[in-house]
Amino acid sequence: MSRFAEPQAAAFQALNSSVAFDQRLWPQDLAGSRAHATMLAARGIITDDERDSLLHGLATVEEELREKRFAFLPDDEDVHMAIERRLTALIGSVGGKLHTARSRNDQVATDVALFCKETATRLCAQVTELMGTLVALAEAHLDAPLPGYTHLQRAQPIYLSHHLLAYVWMLDRDRQRLAFATQQADRLPLGAGALAGVNFDTDRRMVAADLGFAGVMPNSVDAVSNRDFVLDLLHACATCATHLSRLGSELVIWSSQEFGFVTLADRWTSGSSIMPQKKNPDAAELLRGKAPRVVAHAAALHGVLHALPLTYNKDMQEDKEHLFDAVDTLALCLAAAQGMLDGARFDRERMAAAASDDLIAATDLADLLVTRGVPFRECHGIVAGLVRTAVESGRGLGELSDAELRAQSEHLDASVRTVFEQSSWLESKRSEGGTALPRVREQLVLAQALLDA
Ligand code: ARG
Repeated sequence: MSRFAEPQAAAFQALNSSVAFDQRLWPQDLAGSRAHATMLAARGIITDDERDSLLHGLATVEEELREKRFAFLPDDEDVHMAIERRLTALIGSVGGKLHTARSRNDQVATDVALFCKETATRLCAQVTELMGTLVALAEAHLDAPLPGYTHLQRAQPIYLSHHLLAYVWMLDRDRQRLAFATQQADRLPLGAGALAGVNFDTDRRMVAADLGFAGVMPNSVDAVSNRDFVLDLLHACATCATHLSRLGSELVIWSSQEFGFVTLADRWTSGSSIMPQKKNPDAAELLRGKAPRVVAHAAALHGVLHALPLTYNKDMQEDKEHLFDAVDTLALCLAAAQGMLDGARFDRERMAAAASDDLIAATDLADLLVTRGVPFRECHGIVAGLVRTAVESGRGLGELSDAELRAQSEHLDASVRTVFEQSSWLESKRSEGGTALPRVREQLVLAQALLDA
């Protein structure tokens, strides 16, 4: 018998069905079902024989899925119903006992939580690998100067190691966000039933331990309503993708002929269909271009959950495509960042030449005047005057005559020219976290410790 007098409309089925995308949850769904069946028998809710039939049938289903022989049917609304249908076809009506003391509401929440935990852990490993590549590059280019930019205008010189290590800290925060998302998914929803709990003396802690959850969701209403852990993972992905977009952007700029700071490996670039001379940094551009898509997935799930009454609503089925696309996109971007950096060749001469523009030492000259007792604001004005004279006459600051120096301030004389020696601009940045080599070496030790931890 069915509650319904007519079949579902085709368009409703198309709208309502999630099997096309949630079938990738089959490993989690099978793990949950095995743990559930085992617990049901342990509590005497089904017999040991029934459990054995269920586990045997689930093993066959797993084989079919693994070998891509499993036939999803048009009437399978989602992965949960497809697996139960097939299980019952394989082992007979005992298959129908698997859903005792369970609802698809706590089942799907459990599957998605397992998926989030596994995926966050995998992404975290990828992030760690990328951090390792950046640390190795920083070691290799410890003392290679390049201009640091603000507003994409040359600002102050730094070492490439220092710049690359900035990404290591960004990525370490991404790892922390991914770890937080993992923790948030680490409470078992299963056992909540549809929303109120179940009419059987189940053992949720046994299922939690079996599936590797740290504990159980303490409230059945919350358990089936909650997708916060998906939001947390999406936020972690969004921020990480945003970080990669900044790296991508810098690789685009640095690999341009105008900059020429880095050459990307051919295997990470593509040609133009019309201009034979081109070598385009498409992968780096796509690190920029993909990030907003990941951010949008996080925003979209906020939209789905916004003002949604407790508990389960079908709207929540919309969590999956956002989740899947976000984590897949980020995994791809991490692999691309990794591959591009592995094959990147930095041009130390080009970078050093750009960093040797002595206008970039303007702050250092101002600071030198501070040591001669001039208030910083006045120094700023004095050096601005010098910069103007230099720029207007097409010279560097170091090329100004003694008389031109003196004209701006009585505190300026020939001795200030030492400031224009390149390494002194960098090595004077001795403050903790600064670019002076001893400080970068300190940072490298800290960064290395992050990797070893
Ligand atoms: N496919 C559904 C989802 O992804 C599974 C839960 C369905 N529950 C229900 N009461 N209709 O959310």
